[in-house]
Amino acid sequence: MRKEIAEQPDAIRRVLSGRLEPRFSTTHLGGLELAARELLEAKRVKILGCGSAYIAGCVGAQLIEQLARIPAHAEPASEFRYRNPVIEADTLYIAVSQSGETFDTLSAVQEVKRKGARVFGIINSVGSTIARECGRGLYLHAGPEVAVVSTKTFTSTAVAFALFAIYLGRLRDLSAANGARLLAALSALPAQVEAILAQEDRIATIATAFAKTRDAYFVGRAAGYPVAMEGALKLKEVSYVHAEAYPASELKHGPLALIAPETPTLIVLPRDDLFSKNVSTIEEIRARRGPTYVVTHPQPVPVPVDGVIEVPKSEPELDPILLNLPLQLLAYHVALQRGTDIDKPRNLAKSVTVE
Ligand code: AGP
Repeated sequence: MRKEIAEQPDAIRRVLSGRLEPRFSTTHLGGLELAARELLEAKRVKILGCGSAYIAGCVGAQLIEQLARIPAHAEPASEFRYRNPVIEADTLYIAVSQSGETFDTLSAVQEVKRKGARVFGIINSVGSTIARECGRGLYLHAGPEVAVVSTKTFTSTAVAFALFAIYLGRLRDLSAANGARLLAALSALPAQVEAILAQEDRIATIATAFAKTRDAYFVGRAAGYPVAMEGALKLKEVSYVHAEAYPASELKHGPLALIAPETPTLIVLPRDDLFSKNVSTIEEIRARRGPTYVVTHPQPVPVPVDGVIEVPKSEPELDPILLNLPLQLLAYHVALQRGTDIDKPRNLAKSVTVE
C-alpha cells in the first residue's frame, strides 16, 4: 500500500500523458470514441462503480457538474443493477473500475447496454472484461495495483474525471481561460503530491490518535464529502477502526449524538467559499468535547484543533484530489500501529468477481 501511495506522482503523470491540449485549452481523449455531437446530446451523466471506484465517481460527478454544467450523479453499481433502473438514451453512463472485473459493475454495464444507452469506461486494467464490454473509454495507465485497497487508482480516476470534465466543459460553456487555468493546475499535481508525501512523519504522528480509538468520524461538505467518504473507507479497510463519513451539514441531524472525548473527527477543510461553514462544524464538535483533526490548505485555522495536516492549494475544482492524499497515509499508519495485515485486510479480495 505504501509503495502504491508513493507511486502516485508518476501515476498522475501517466494519466495526463498525451491528453492535455493547451492549444485549445482542452483535453484530448482518444479512447472515448464519442463524437462531439453525441456528447452534446447528453442531458445527464450517470457514473457507476463499487467501493472506492464509486467514491471516485462522486468526485467525478461534482467535477462534471462544475465544469460542464450538466447534471451528474454517481451510484454504487451494486445497487443500480438490482433496482430496475430507468435507463435513458440521453444519459451518458460511465463505468469505473480498477480491475475491470468487478461483477456488479459489469452487470450494470450490461444492463445499460441492453437498454440501448451509451456507456464508456474509466478502467485501469487494459483488456479487462468491463473495458471490453464498454468498448471505449479511458485507461488510467496507473500500473498494477496489488494491495487490496485502492490508492493510486482512486487518485488517477479522479484525475481522469477532471480530464473528461474539462473536455465536456470546453464543448459547452467552459471558457478557454478557465480551461487553461485547469490544465496548468493538472500539470502541477504530481509535484504537489510529492510535497504531501514528504509530510509522512507528521501524518504518522496524527495517526496515533486514530490508532487508539474504536470509532472515528470523517466529515466534509460539498466537494469535501467524497474526500471524507474515501478517508473513512480506507481507514476501516486497513485498520479495522470503525470509521463513518458524514456530510458536515448532516451532523446536527443525528450523528452529533455520537461525538465524545474519546472519538476523533477528521474534518476536510479546504480554503473555499464554505470555509467558515466548516469552521462552524469544528466548533460544534469541540463544544461536545470531540477531538478535531483537519486536512486543510496552508493558512492558520481560526479555531483550536488537535492536529493539522496541510496540503498545497490547487484550483478549487481539483482540491479534493490533493485533500484525499494524506488520508491514505493516515489509514496506512493507523494500520501499521495496530499491526494489521495492511496489504491483505481480512475478508476482502482485490477483485470482487462474484455476485
Ligand atoms: C477499495 O479500497 C476497495 N478495496 C474496493 O472498494 C474497490 O474499490 C471495489 O471493490 C471496486 O473495485 P474495482 O475498482 O476493481 O472495480
